[in-house]
Parts: sequence; C-alpha cells; structure tokens
Amino acid sequence: MSTVNKAGLEDVVVSTSDICFIDGREGRLIYRGYDVDDLAVQSTFEEVVYLLWYGALPTKKEYDAFYKTLSATATRRLPPKLVALLRGLPKKTTPMEVLRTGVSALSAFDPDDPDNSREAEIRKAMRLTAQMPTLVAAWERIRRGKAPIAPNPKLNLAANFLYMMFGKKPTDLAAKTFDVALILHADHEFNASTFAARVTAATLSDMYSAVTSAIGALKGPLHGGANEQVMAMLEEVGKPERAAAFVEEAFQKKRRIMGFGHRVYQRGDPRARHLMRMSERLGQAAGAPEWYQISQKIHAEVQARKQLLPNVDFYSASVYHVLGIPRDLFTPIFAVSRVCGWTAHVLEQLANNRLIRPRAEYRGPAPRGYVPIDRR
Ligand code: SDX
Repeated sequence: MSTVNKAGLEDVVVSTSDICFIDGREGRLIYRGYDVDDLAVQSTFEEVVYLLWYGALPTKKEYDAFYKTLSATATRRLPPKLVALLRGLPKKTTPMEVLRTGVSALSAFDPDDPDNSREAEIRKAMRLTAQMPTLVAAWERIRRGKAPIAPNPKLNLAANFLYMMFGKKPTDLAAKTFDVALILHADHEFNASTFAARVTAATLSDMYSAVTSAIGALKGPLHGGANEQVMAMLEEVGKPERAAAFVEEAFQKKRRIMGFGHRVYQRGDPRARHLMRMSERLGQAAGAPEWYQISQKIHAEVQARKQLLPNVDFYSASVYHVLGIPRDLFTPIFAVSRVCGWTAHVLEQLANNRLIRPRAEYRGPAPRGYVPIDRR
C-alpha cells in the first residue's frame, strides 16, 4: 500500500490519461495534443467535442457527418414526458438542481440505456451533449411561465442555445463568443467533477449516472459554482472605484475572492486570458463596458495584494452577463460544455477499467470491547 496523505489529493497522480494535459508551471492547456490557444481561435465547439471523444481532429467528411447527427432536432429535443416532469417542479428549483434531475431522468427515455457497449455509450454522450443545452434553456423558459423554444437545426450548438434562451438568432459576435467559451470549458483533466464521473463509471454503472455524479460535484462554489459567485461579487462592487475597498475588506476578513486561484495553475489560467479579451470586446459592442471594467479593477487589486490570478470563472461571469444570461445559469452552462469532457473521460475509463477504490489511513480509536447500553 502506498500512502499519499495529501489534503485534497493535491498533486497526487492517480492514473494516466490521453485526453488533457495541464501545464501548471507554464500555464498551458492541451486537448489531445492541441493547445487551447489554437483551438479557441481556429476551431469550433463541435470540432472540439469530436477531438475529445475520438482523439483526433475530424476530416471534413467526418466532421459533416458528426455535426449533422449532433445538431439534428431528433438528437437535441427533449422527450415530451421529460418536459412535463420539468413543469411539475417548483419554479424556485435552481437550474443546477433541474439539470441534475433532468439528466438523471433522461436515462429512462434513452433506447440505449441498458446497453453499455462503446457504440451505445458514444450515442448516449451525443444525446447528453445535444440535449443538455435544450434542458437548460427549457427550464429558463418554463420557470418564467413561457413555452420552451424548439431547437433550430440550422444553428450550431452555441447559437442554438442562445436562440432557445431568448427566442431570436444571436448576433455573430455573441454566437462566436459563446462558442469559444464552450471550447475553453470543455475539459480539464482530473478536476473534481470529471474525477467524480470516472469513479462512478469505474463501478460499471452507466453514462447517465456518471454525468449525474459530475453535475453534483460541479455545483459546489469551490468548483463550477464559482462563476455565479463572481457575478454576485461584480454586482456587489457595482462600480470600478469601489473595487479596492471591496478587495481590502475581503482579505481582511479572510474571505475567498471567487474566480481567483487554482489548484494546478501556478502562473495563471490560459482560459482566463481569452475570456478577459472577449469580456472587453463584448462589453464594448453591447454598450455595457462597466462589467469588464469592474472585473479589471478587482483583478488588479487582488494581484497587487496576493499572488492570486484569475481562473476560468472570473471573466466568464461578465461574458455571460453581457450575453443576457441570468446568473444562476452560469454553472449549468459550464456543465453544458464540460459534459463532452466528462463523457470523454468515461469512455477512456471504460476502455481500460479498474474499480477506483483508494484507502484511508485509520486514525480512529484502538480496538475495544462492546458495552451493552444499560451499562454505559
Ligand atoms: C474551477 O480543478 C480544476 O481544474 C477546476 C476548474 C476546471 O476547469 O474544472 O479549473 C474549474 O473549479 C476553477 C476554480 C473555481 N473556484 C474558485 O474560484 C473558488 C475560489 N478559489 C479558491 O477556493 C481556490 O483557489 C481553489 C479552490 C480554486 C484552489 O484551492 P487550493 O489549491 O485548495 O488552495 P488553498 O485553498 O489551499 O489556498 C492556498 C492559499 C490559502 O492561503 P493560506 O490559508 O495558505 O494563507 O491561497 C489562498 C488560501 O487562503 N487562496 C485564496 C484564494 N484561493 C486560494 N485566498 C483568497 N481568495 C482565493 N480565491
């Protein structure tokens, strides 16, 4: 037995993977050998999904066939009985709870559910990647007393999500910005939610259970839930000139500044650089530069006081807000992207599986005899 007693498994390498490499020292993120800096500028979310699942960029013919299936209404739409289930939920149910519940329930409608072959698992991954945006957008409409909008097969996943949310085709800038945000969130090695998915898959449970586990893990504010907390902070600060006092008080009270710091990146999260640029450009184009400006001031104040750099959740908050997305949909959007990474890791785990079962170093009482209750 090898004892590695590191809090939070910090820096503990538990397995190999071919999917994602994070260079914490140099601040680089690599998907199947391709730098996310190149993918963010030159690729599309659908192409990155294909890359994560199949391990190589598709040829034009492969891409067209893949895109056609992933964007088809038959793949994207929700079973009517699932929509009825959503309508039965209390309107105050948080979108992450709806997503966790909806994904779990989707397995009951999947014809491949009992089949754990690789081909069936990929079909389930395809359905989940296509249906989760529809699920999130449908809940947004239902909770506001509106009818869900059917997916538009003429739009890619990013543009279609915004269309189903707002009922109109997004601008090219909004669609492109959201597509890049999805690329940036797609995978991240053995982060908490991905590892939760792998642990579940390793028991030979099923794809839907693994993704439901991952959604539960992502919900936490130390992980995917941080982007919603960042937006609450931006709204609390309200003006760039209040940022210094806010940060000073936060550090004095030993409060965590959401959106800063990372377990692996020592010199900054490369995703934050892309999101920062997009936040500035989108804010200017939308006539709402203040959210980027407040973010920049907080960024400068935090960095001046502690060696803490923004992570993926910091500037994504202002990007999503300027796109008109309600704050409590930010983490569900993280899941809408990360589901392709989660499912890629489930496929990899199942291809060479061994039950994941670490040990604990027992530090409880020494062995002792049982004393009946009337003599205690
Ligand atoms: C994501 O793992 C992934 O890859 C996740 C992710 C992905 O793509 O899947 O990248 C997505 O989850 C990004 C992280 C989002 N979470 C937050 O932004 C929450 C705020 N960040 C922190 O809670 C923290 O930085 C973590 C959780 C991200 C990392 O924490 P660690 O590695 O456990 O670091 P730590 O808590 O041990 O902190 C080390 C020191 C402490 O100071 P001391 O007590 O030693 O004096 O740094 C301080 C911390 O207080 N610190 C912070 C801070 N983050 C660390 N202080 C204030 N604000 C912060 N955000």
